[in-house]
Amino acid sequence: MPPKSTPKTPPHAPAFRRKLLAWFRRHGRDLPWRRTRDPYRVLVSEFMLQQTQVSRVEGFYHRFLAAFPTVHHLARARPGRVREEWDGLGYYRRAANLQRLAQTVVAEHDGRIPDEVAKLNALPGVGLYTAGAVASFAYEQAVPAVDTNVARVLRRAFHPRIGVDAKAARRLWETAATLLPRPGPSAWAFNQAIMELGALICTARIARCGECPVRSACSTGRREKKREEGRERREE
Ligand code: ADE
Repeated sequence: MPPKSTPKTPPHAPAFRRKLLAWFRRHGRDLPWRRTRDPYRVLVSEFMLQQTQVSRVEGFYHRFLAAFPTVHHLARARPGRVREEWDGLGYYRRAANLQRLAQTVVAEHDGRIPDEVAKLNALPGVGLYTAGAVASFAYEQAVPAVDTNVARVLRRAFHPRIGVDAKAARRLWETAATLLPRPGPSAWAFNQAIMELGALICTARIARCGECPVRSACSTGRREKKREEGRERREE
């Protein structure tokens, strides 16, 4: 959802960005799809991660790429073979879409995975999140990639009272866009980092504000801190 007008940069945005990037450099996990900028490999990882946890995806990712090392191998494979290599991950529609995507890329894009969000978004099985993720993780573009984890972090940090409708979703994408560093390695790292924060610290079940690197730049974290201080004063 590209923003219609230039949205305001939230207060604390520079501190949020700086602290998040510093934390990710130290604490970000060394995941196989973070060691590559190959758009095909990034796409495979993103399709697998759509409904499946990181810890389960790792083994399947290597196995699948050993069987289909390039978009051309995947495009011409027997569908039964693709399904076999996906076996155990479930949600087979993802595998069928990924193969259709490979065939489209070979037939219509000369075997090259597009670098534009709109062209990526038009490929089979590629929604706005996956399009942003590939543009950012393969091509290091400064485009947002807001999945449920990232939406939760943005909501808690900048829009704690926002609704859950389409308008609110647009607002979160706009905020994500204002936070991004310039295109290049930092834009790549920012999107990986905010996802990592949502996976490791700012989780759905519990916001671990006490361990959070961006607490002082986050609405929810600051509110929690004030509450804690109030409690401590009353106990004195
Ligand atoms: N989920 C979706 N994309 C991811 C990535 N690049 N790293 C970790 N989890 C993810």
